[in-house]
Amino acid sequence: MAVKIMTKPAQMQKMSQAWKRQGRRVVLVPTMGALHQGHLALIRRAKKLGDRVVVSSYVNPAQFNSGRDLKKYPRCAAADAALVRRAGADVLFRPAGLYAKNSSTWVEETDCSRGRCGDRRPGHFRGVATVVAKLFHLVQPGAAVFGEKDHQQCLVIERMTRDLHFPVRIVRHPTLRERDGLPLSSRNLRLSPRNRKWAGAWAQALRQAASLGPRRALGAYRKLLRPLRSVRPEYVELVKGNLHAAAWIGGVRLIDHRRCGGSR
Ligand code: PAF
Repeated sequence: MAVKIMTKPAQMQKMSQAWKRQGRRVVLVPTMGALHQGHLALIRRAKKLGDRVVVSSYVNPAQFNSGRDLKKYPRCAAADAALVRRAGADVLFRPAGLYAKNSSTWVEETDCSRGRCGDRRPGHFRGVATVVAKLFHLVQPGAAVFGEKDHQQCLVIERMTRDLHFPVRIVRHPTLRERDGLPLSSRNLRLSPRNRKWAGAWAQALRQAASLGPRRALGAYRKLLRPLRSVRPEYVELVKGNLHAAAWIGGVRLIDHRRCGGSR
């Protein structure tokens, strides 16, 4: 079945309202495009949860910390449309913009967004919460699927959904990984072949450190990173038995987390 590409927010909202009147269960998969197998898994999960699947693709300027990073974010419109069609979603919602020129309304979550990525990327989660709230208003889903890789993002969205009384079930989907353990991410496309190897080594270091258990994980991670010359660690933190880390490799920021003492 052909996927319908929608660009107008009002048109998207109207379609969702019509579906809901017909008793359809609408499920949203929010993305910023540059889709990969991880997104495919989210779409497959969404299909199991409902009978109308909307994939949104919008590179949200409000969640980037620099114009340079925003500009460099990979954009692959044609390949994305083909992938969404193959995955069997009903609508690819690709709005040209979601902010008026003098937009002055924001959604800010102030608890889960503290620490880790929230501290290193000021304003990032405000941008995420705002755009996800906008998408919920436009698509009006009963459920929305997010990748577990962005763990803090999941926490922020879950809290925002509860606090603002959105009737949306937030579904987390497990992280998908490359053979060497690097989590799938649109940002991986920006790694040179050499840096891609360093990224794999970084992911393995995190896995190995976490496998040693919570008492040894932090020290082991720092030690394992020492020989990885091209990896610039940003943070490493132990939160509720999970080892969370962010690192820069060749100008690309990567995040990951692993359960301590487990193989997840
Ligand atoms: O995870 C992402 O791709 C983005 O942060 C999201 C949730 C689509 C909001 O722009």
